[in-house]
Amino acid sequence: MSGFVEIFNLGKTYDTPNGPLVIVENFTLNLSQGEYVSLLGHSGCGKSTVLTMVAGLNPITTGGVILANREIDGPGPDRGVVFQSPCLMPWLSALDNVLLGVDQVYRHGTRKQRRDIAAYYLELVGLGNSLYRRATELSQGMQQRVGIARALALKPRMLLLDEPFGMLDSLTRMELQEILLGILERDRITTMMITHDVDEALFMSDRVVMMTNGPRASVGAIFEMPFVRPRIRTEVLEHPEYYFYREKMLAFLEEQEQKKHLANVRKFEKLKSDQCPSTISEAPLPVSVNV
Ligand SMILES: Nc1ncnc2c1ncn2[C@@H]1O[C@H](COP(=O)(O)OP(=O)(O)OP(=O)(O)O)[C@@H](O)[C@H]1O
Ligand SMILES: [Mg+2]
Repeated sequence: MSGFVEIFNLGKTYDTPNGPLVIVENFTLNLSQGEYVSLLGHSGCGKSTVLTMVAGLNPITTGGVILANREIDGPGPDRGVVFQSPCLMPWLSALDNVLLGVDQVYRHGTRKQRRDIAAYYLELVGLGNSLYRRATELSQGMQQRVGIARALALKPRMLLLDEPFGMLDSLTRMELQEILLGILERDRITTMMITHDVDEALFMSDRVVMMTNGPRASVGAIFEMPFVRPRIRTEVLEHPEYYFYREKMLAFLEEQEQKKHLANVRKFEKLKSDQCPSTISEAPLPVSVNV
């Protein structure tokens, strides 16, 4: 099956002090244009590894990624990336932080055109009144808005979000989710988002991809969301299948947790038996010698 984004047999091996370790293996997923896909899985399973490989920020060990018929071989303005924390230049204003990327991508535009693009996206994320405030003067939620505006202002073909709302309070989180969905639905930007929040995945996504535990993590299950767009939170929450899918996702995570637990128990048992071989514990007690 071909897609706007084709991730095929993606794999990543990291070098560790104990030798090479296969973290992700045979991760295959296609996204159609404008689709919103979330990645869910236990901490450390390899979600960010997949996302950074798609972003071109992390060398791919095996397989590849094709975006709009072109195989990616590094980072590019066709992919906007937003991490949990936006890493702004603290001494620059919100506007200048967004302009850093805009100036690179729209080199042929006039200074005014570039400024207007940056201001437009800051306006969209609700920072129209804070264009000239320095990053250090902005709250965490406002900084994250700048990070989102910075990514969107490049008009990427694909948006990659790594727990973008993870550090925000729940009200700001919900507000930003809705703002972002509005922009993405309008501009049909294909999106891959990592989240730990099942409800966030349900509300935002067209499909939710559940990752298995690492090492050798891969796609474990895919759930297609039945909710219509544009998404309205109350309608999604009241949808008759909302809790059905929620339960399925939680059950998947629970099952993975059990597997992880069992694997840890086995590892611990092996460690114990390696350190304390039964031959020692079962060896006959030394015979006492009378002198
Ligand atoms: N540069 C690296 N070198 C060696 N191991 C790494 C490197 N980066 C990540 N790892 C390991 O790869 C595994 C997956 O890491 P990754 O950050 O992709 O997980 P994650 O699913 O995003 O976790 P979280 O939900 O906690 O963010 C972890 O065991 C991590 O320790
Ligand atoms: Mg991560």
